[in-house]
Amino acid sequence: MNTTSAPPINLVQPGLYSHGDPFTQWKWLRANDPVHRHPPTELPGFWALTRYDDIREAYNDHETFSSAHGILLRPDEHGADPGGGRTLALTDPPRHRQLRGLVNEWFAVRAVRALENDMADIAQNVVERALEAGSCDFVTDIAARVPLYVICRMMGIPESDWEYMYTLTSQAFAADDALTRRIAHLEILGYFDKLREARAADPGDDLVSVLATAEVDGARLDPQDVILNCDNLFVGGTENTRIAAAGGMLAFLEHPDQWRALVEDPSLLNSAVEEVLRWTSTATHIMRTATRPVTLHDRRIAAGDKVVFWLPSANRDESVFDEPDRFDIARKPNRHLALGFGEHFCLGSMLARVELRLLYRELLTRSPHLTLDGQPKLLDSIVVNGPERLPVAFGPQGRKESP
Ligand code: HEM
Repeated sequence: MNTTSAPPINLVQPGLYSHGDPFTQWKWLRANDPVHRHPPTELPGFWALTRYDDIREAYNDHETFSSAHGILLRPDEHGADPGGGRTLALTDPPRHRQLRGLVNEWFAVRAVRALENDMADIAQNVVERALEAGSCDFVTDIAARVPLYVICRMMGIPESDWEYMYTLTSQAFAADDALTRRIAHLEILGYFDKLREARAADPGDDLVSVLATAEVDGARLDPQDVILNCDNLFVGGTENTRIAAAGGMLAFLEHPDQWRALVEDPSLLNSAVEEVLRWTSTATHIMRTATRPVTLHDRRIAAGDKVVFWLPSANRDESVFDEPDRFDIARKPNRHLALGFGEHFCLGSMLARVELRLLYRELLTRSPHLTLDGQPKLLDSIVVNGPERLPVAFGPQGRKESP
C-alpha cells in the first residue's frame, strides 16, 4: 500500500493525454486501488484495471470478459457498437476463431517475410520524399504513410487510390471537427463496399477478396460483415502503427543517447522496436464486458459491468519492469502488453514490428541527425495516445545518399 495521498482520479478526460499526466493516476491506482470503480461521466461507469498481472489474467479469460459488446468506452446514447458480434475485434469464440481463421495466414511470419521487400521499398520511398523536403511533419508525412500503403497493398487497393485513402484516413483520424471525421469514415466504408462487390465478382489475391468470397458455416459472409471487417483491418493496420512510429521517434528525440546507441549499433533494432511498443503503448484503453459475476481483489464485478484495461499502465508496472519509467532500447526481457494478449492478441503484430524496424532502419542510415523542428502536439483522445503533430528537420546529412 502506497501512503501518498490520492490524486483526483479521472481517466476519461481527453486532455489528460494531450497535456496532463495520466501516469501519476495509474501509479497510485496500481499501488492502492487496482480494481477501481470509475464513476459515470458522459461515458458509463466502469472498473479500471491498471496492474500488469490483473490485465493479463483478464485477457486470458475471454469467457468472463467478452469483446462482443464493444472494446472501447462509448456514451450510452450512441447505442451498441455497430461492429458488435460481427467483426474480428468485436466477437467471442467460436465466431471470433472462424473470422480470424479466414485471414490469419496473411499476417503470419511467412507471409510478412514475403512482403518484406515491398515494405522496405515503401519505407525507402516515403523517407526519401520527406528528406528531399528537408523538414516535415513526421506524423503525416512519414509515420502515417508507411502502414497505410502496406495495408492498401495487402487489401488489393489499387495504387492509384492510395493518395485518396491517405486523405480519407487523415480526415477520419485527425480532422478537428467530429462531422468531417464521421463523413470521412463513411466514405471509407463506402469505398470498401464497392471494392467488396468488385472482388466478390472477380476475386484477386488480396484480403478484400478473401473476405468477399469466404464461407463460414456453409454461407458467404453478409456484405455488411465484409465491409465492417475490411474497416477493422484497415483501421487496425493504420492507426496504431502511425502513432507508435511517431511516438517512438519522439522518444528518441527526447532521449538522444538512445538514438545514438541505435545509430552506432543497429543490431539493437529488434529490442528497440519492443521498447518503442512498450513506451508508446498507443492503445490507451481496451474494454471488456463481464459475462458473469467475478471477484477481483475483493471487488465484486457484476455480470454486464464494463471492465477497462489501461495498457500504458500495465507497461509501466514496477512489479514487472525494472525502472519502468526509463526508455531503454536494450531492455530484456520486455513482455509488454502494447499489442494485447490472449484470444484477441493483435493480428498485425508481426507486420507492425517489421514496419517499425524498416522505418527506423531507413531513418538511422539516411538521417542520423534528425532533430525536432517545432513543438510536438499530442492527441486529445482516451482511445489512442501519442503525437498528432511532430515537426522534424533532417539536417544536411539527411540528404546524403545511403551507402
Ligand atoms: C504498433 C502498432 C499496433 C498496436 C499498438 C496494436 C494494438 C492492438 C491491440 C492492443 C489489440 C488488442 C485489442 C483487444 O484486446 O481487444 C489489437 C488487435 C488487433 N490489431 Fe493491432 N495493433 C497494431 C498494429 C496493427 C496492424 C499493423 C494491424 C494490421 C491489420 C492490426 C490489426 C489488428 C486487428 C485486426 C486486431 C483484432 C484482432 C482480434 O480481435 O482477434 N494491428 N491491436
